[in-house]
Amino acid sequence: MSDPTTTAAAAPFATQEIHAAQPADSPWWRDAVIYQIYPRSWADGDGDGIGDLPGITSRLDHLRDLGVDAVWLSPFYRSPQRDAGYDVADHRDVDPLFGTLADADAMVARAHELGLRVVVDLVPNHTSSDHAWFQQALAAAPGSPQRERYIFRDGLGEDGSLPPTDWQANFGGGAWTRVTEADGTPGQWYLHLFDPSQPDLNWDDARVREDFETTLRFWLDRGVDGFRVDVAHGLVKDPTFPPFGKHPGGLMEVTHEAPYWDQDGVHEIYRGWRALLDSYGTPERILCAEAWVNPADRLARYVRPDEFHQAFNFDFLETRWRATDLREAVRRSLAANDSVGAVSTWVLSNHDVLRHASRFGLPVDGARPNGIGPDDPQPDAELGLRRARAATTLMLALPGGAYVYQGEELGLPEHTSLPGEVRQDPTYRRTDGVELGRDGCRVPMPWTKGAPALGFNDTGAAWLPQPEAYSDLAVDAQTGVAGSTLELYRALLALRRERRLGLASLAEVHGLGDDVIGYVLTAPDGTRTLVLANLSSEPVAIPAQADVLVASGELVASGELVDGSLPTDTAVWARLD
Ligand code: NOJ
Ligand code: MG
Repeated sequence: MSDPTTTAAAAPFATQEIHAAQPADSPWWRDAVIYQIYPRSWADGDGDGIGDLPGITSRLDHLRDLGVDAVWLSPFYRSPQRDAGYDVADHRDVDPLFGTLADADAMVARAHELGLRVVVDLVPNHTSSDHAWFQQALAAAPGSPQRERYIFRDGLGEDGSLPPTDWQANFGGGAWTRVTEADGTPGQWYLHLFDPSQPDLNWDDARVREDFETTLRFWLDRGVDGFRVDVAHGLVKDPTFPPFGKHPGGLMEVTHEAPYWDQDGVHEIYRGWRALLDSYGTPERILCAEAWVNPADRLARYVRPDEFHQAFNFDFLETRWRATDLREAVRRSLAANDSVGAVSTWVLSNHDVLRHASRFGLPVDGARPNGIGPDDPQPDAELGLRRARAATTLMLALPGGAYVYQGEELGLPEHTSLPGEVRQDPTYRRTDGVELGRDGCRVPMPWTKGAPALGFNDTGAAWLPQPEAYSDLAVDAQTGVAGSTLELYRALLALRRERRLGLASLAEVHGLGDDVIGYVLTAPDGTRTLVLANLSSEPVAIPAQADVLVASGELVASGELVDGSLPTDTAVWARLD
C-alpha cells in the first residue's frame, strides 16, 4: 500500500489527445521561445542609469547560454519617453538614450552571430505628440490633410467644450483632449486611447498606411526577423463613434463590443503586412499580435494563415492558480488556434503585468492590482516563486511558441515597495495614484551580486531602484547553482528543444483528480514526455515507469513509491519511453 495521503496516478494511464503533432521541419517561429528585453532595464552600457543597445549587445551571451531562440525588444526608437518609448516620435530612428542606428545594427549582427533571431516592437495605434505629423496637425486648421492623419473631431455642446464621446483612456481620464488652435482659440479634440501624449492615428488615411510599410521595410532591410505589434486590436475605430461608457475592459469582457477594440477592419491591414513580410522569403519574418481580445475565437482571427504568425495568449497569463482553470485555458487556446492552423503562444509575464513570481503569491481569488505599493498587502514571496517555477515548467512544455520576460529566468519578484516619487508609469499620474502602474515589473536586471546597481552598469545609477531581494538573485549568484531558478530555466529550455515539445501532440491524462494537471506530449519522432503539475494540497505519485527529467522543486521521497512523489505546487517532466 502506498502512503494514504498520496494519490497514485494509474499506469498505464488513460489519455485523450487534444492537439496534433506538427511536422518536424516546421518554420522556426512555430515552436520558438522568445525572450523579451525591456531595453531601459536590461543592461546599461554608458552608465547613465538607463539600459541601452550597446549594453544589450554586450550581454547577449546570457541568452545563448539560457537557450532561447530569439529576442524581442520593447521600443528603442526616438521618443520623449512619456510612456517608456511606446510614444514614438520617429519610427525609423534610435533614441539617443539607447544609442544610434549603428548600435542597433551591431546588436542585430551580434544576436545573429549567436544564433538568436531579433524581433522589434512596432507601435502603430498611436504616435508621440512630439511626432512631426502631430506637430503639423496642431499647426494646421481643422479639416486639413495634416489633421486627417489623426482622429480630430469637434466637441459637443454649444461651444464644443464637451468631448466628442464618453470614451475613457487606458491610463485614466477621458480619451479625448482639446487643442488650442493656431489663433489661440479653444479648438477641436483628438482621440488618445492611452496617454494624451499618444494621439491615435487614423488608419483610414493612405499616407499612414504607406508610411508604416516604409517602417516595416526599414527594419526588415536592417535584418530584423519580425515585429511584435503593439495594441494590434485598436487601430480601427467604429466610424460612427458611438457612446460606450465602460472603461476599456479587461480580457474577460467581449472585447469587440467596445467601439475601439477588435473591430473587423483591422484584419485587412495585417493581411497587407503579412504579404509584405512574406515577400522577404525564408527564414520567415514574423508578426506577433499584442491583442487583448476575448473570446478565444475572436483572437484566433488574428492568426489566420494570411495574418499574424503569433498572438500572445493573455487568457493563459490571466488564469488563476487552479488546475481546472489552467486546463480549460490550455484547451481553449489549442482548440481556437488549431481551428485556423495557428500555434499557441504562451506567456506568463511582460512589462505590463505583475511579475508572475509575485502574482502567484497573491491570494488565488483576490484582486490583481495594477502595481503593488509599500502600504498594500504583500505577496507571499516563497509561495509565489514556488508556483511561478511550477507554472513555467508547465508553460514551457506546451506545444507552440512561448515568450519569457527578462528576469523571470532569475525568479525576480515584482518591486512592491517603490515610493510614489520614483514611479514613472503615466498611469500613476493619470489616476492620481489610485493605480500604481507597471514600474514594479520594470526594475533594472541584477547581473552581479553586491556590485553597483547589481552589475546593471558600472556607475551604480539606476532609473528605478532595485529591491534588496535582487542581490541574491543576480545572474552570477545563480549560475551553476543546482536548484536555482536560472538553472531550472536552462534545463527546461534545453530539454524542450531536445524533445521537440513545441511541435509535439498533446494528450490530457485522465484520472489524476481535478487538482492535478497531466499531459503526455508526443514529439514528431514519437518521443513521449509526461508533464505533471500538482496543484492539490497533497503529494501525488509519479508513475513508476516515468523517468524524471526535470522538476520545478525538490521531490519528496515517499514510502514505497519508486520514483518519489510530486509535492504540492510542483511540476515535473518525465521520460516515458
Ligand atoms: C501596450 C504596451 O505593452 C504598453 O507598455 C503600452 O503602454 C501600451 N501598449 C500603449 O502603447
Ligand atoms: Mg545607458
